[in-house]
Amino acid sequence: MEETEARFSSQIVVITGSATGIGEATMARFASEGASVVGLDNNTSENNATAATIRSEGGRALAVDCDVRSEEQQERAFAEVLERYGRIDVLVASAGIFVGSALADIPMERWHDIEAVNLTGVLLSNKLVAPTMTEQGSGSIINIASMAAKTSWPQSAEYSATKSGVIGITRSVAMELGPHGITANAVCPGNTLTAMVRKVAGEVGATLDMTADEWLAMRANDTALKRLAKPWEVAGLIAFLASADARYITGQSIEVDGGLILS
Ligand SMILES: NC(=O)c1ccc[n+]([C@@H]2O[C@H](COP(=O)([O-])OP(=O)(O)OC[C@H]3O[C@@H](n4cnc5c(N)ncnc54)[C@H](O)[C@@H]3O)[C@@H](O)[C@H]2O)c1
Repeated sequence: MEETEARFSSQIVVITGSATGIGEATMARFASEGASVVGLDNNTSENNATAATIRSEGGRALAVDCDVRSEEQQERAFAEVLERYGRIDVLVASAGIFVGSALADIPMERWHDIEAVNLTGVLLSNKLVAPTMTEQGSGSIINIASMAAKTSWPQSAEYSATKSGVIGITRSVAMELGPHGITANAVCPGNTLTAMVRKVAGEVGATLDMTADEWLAMRANDTALKRLAKPWEVAGLIAFLASADARYITGQSIEVDGGLILS
């Protein structure tokens, strides 16, 4: 793997939701810039494949099995990272799920599951890196929220609620850990071409009598740039927020949405 620029050389970067999509692209981005990346995900085969691809290209990557809903599993995963590397410079909390349906059809067990991944998962990872980063006197936390926290769509109350909560966690973490030299920011992607958005396109499109492709075209048309994001374009913002150039940016929730918010 060619190191484009060693912005993160000798840094340890932990990414949840690393197996696919934005998390996978973020693993590749940090590794290409010199970091040792550790991916926490419960999709074991895809997570191993992501790390193996990076290693085969000359990068440093480790896959750790972890269901972010589980406090015990997250504790074990972060303990493994610390035992192996002794520090954590960057946390990217990207693990997340979306299931949409009309309000009347939301089963409570599904709400609790979305909340467990999207909110508890983020809160736990932030909590678990805090002591290490505080002791170091440095660190960057980047939580992946969504444009669903800044605009609204029908049939996504659960998702919107959790992503708004991610912004709330991030702002409080920024205030609490700022005095220790730690920044915390949220990234709000618009529709990004990953497995998640293709699934959403199928499910939500069907309720509107549209094919998945028609729904995706409609969402692209809602943006100023008239296209959806690629995962690496979101990874670019995440890497910037973890870089030395962003040390005075904290508590923000930043859109990477192709101008969706303008419509
Ligand atoms: N794709 C989009 O359009 C979009 C837009 C806004 C925000 N987001 C957010 O970006 C993040 C990444 O989503 P993506 O689009 O890359 O989707 P994705 O489905 O490709 O990736 C999500 C990752 O999270 C992992 N994951 C899910 N549940 C988990 C659990 N319990 N424990 C550990 N890992 C788990 C999955 O295995 C997968 O690797 C999510 O938080 C999502 O809400 C995505």
